[in-house]
Amino acid sequence: MSHPIAMPQFAVITGAQVRHALQGREHEMVALVEDAYRLHSAGDSVNPPSYFLRFPDRPASRIIALPASIGGRLRVDGVKWVSSFPGNVALGIPRASAVLILNDQDTGYPFACLESSIISATRTAALAASAADWLSRDRQRPARVGFFGAGLIARYIHTFLVGTGWTFDEVGIFDVSAASAAGFGRYLQRSAPDSVITVHDTAELLIRSSDLVVFATVASQPHVSELRWFEHHPLVLHVSLRDLAPEILLAAGNIVDDIDHCLKASTSPHLAEQLSGNRDFLLGTLADVMAGRVKPTAERPLVFSPFGLGVLDLAVGKYVYDQVSRSGDLHVVDDFFHELDRYG
Ligand SMILES: NC(=O)c1ccc[n+]([C@@H]2O[C@H](COP(=O)([O-])OP(=O)(O)OC[C@H]3O[C@@H](n4cnc5c(N)ncnc54)[C@H](O)[C@@H]3O)[C@@H](O)[C@H]2O)c1
Repeated sequence: MSHPIAMPQFAVITGAQVRHALQGREHEMVALVEDAYRLHSAGDSVNPPSYFLRFPDRPASRIIALPASIGGRLRVDGVKWVSSFPGNVALGIPRASAVLILNDQDTGYPFACLESSIISATRTAALAASAADWLSRDRQRPARVGFFGAGLIARYIHTFLVGTGWTFDEVGIFDVSAASAAGFGRYLQRSAPDSVITVHDTAELLIRSSDLVVFATVASQPHVSELRWFEHHPLVLHVSLRDLAPEILLAAGNIVDDIDHCLKASTSPHLAEQLSGNRDFLLGTLADVMAGRVKPTAERPLVFSPFGLGVLDLAVGKYVYDQVSRSGDLHVVDDFFHELDRYG
């Protein structure tokens, strides 16, 4: 005999609620994202390729769907729908906007829609901070960080690095927009007053003066191709995925989050595969490093290219949902599901 189930409900969670649930929880988010990433790497997930909606009349813009399902104790399905409209920045609003829909694994019913630009930035920064930690264990821990591209993702990554115990003697900035560099500089002065903050005039100076380089631009094709700039063998978090010429990746050690995802969509690793005709330039995944199967050395630059996995959005989104539910502040939309009696 089947048991009656609770009537499905649908809740909307605002950006203010998301921020309140996540603020100051950098350690917890890194642990959560690492757990979800390990579940994914162990096969307890479904994470099909992201679907890119592009527009012939607006080639700089795109909207991406990231459907996913994660098992373990998280048990949730869903989809992130995230827009990137770089022209927004000139209008005074962020480039990216997003919603995350969570679906119940027993009934399939969507049960929440969450503002998700904060969730997306959080999971990206949490995995970047995790990678910085794991990938610097066999090299001198970087004390000079350089941000190549100084937008929202750069700010979140800095917050997550500092929030998980990193300290930097020097923080460098390079951005093609003077306004972005200045804005990020003001954020750093407030949040890291003990660091020496330098806005560099050239990409070369930024890279040469950083042991940890964070790429967070919106470049759609490689614009950094001088291998000599990397002769001090920095650790590179290549979060924006398309900045480095394939020749640089072929001369570096390369770690990705997920091989099949990352070698797509004209990312630099994808171009490196096309140029070399094979995947030999990859050392493995971050999961391989976490499990001790791969040990990157400090004898050449080390580049981490994370494609960004929908399962990580689900993990952070479900965490936020549970927090807001427990606090009693869930905004349930009355009568959202209306046709619930099969025969009327
Ligand atoms: N891999 C992932 O999981 C993941 C997740 C989220 C975002 N991202 C990527 O992170 C990047 C940054 O996102 P954001 O929200 O911070 O964007 P943003 O628009 O807020 O900031 C991007 C900054 O890069 C600068 N920039 C653009 N081209 C540059 C260049 N050639 N050299 C130097 N600076 C340059 C811009 O002036 C801007 O200040 C995007 O490419 C986004 O797709 C990746």
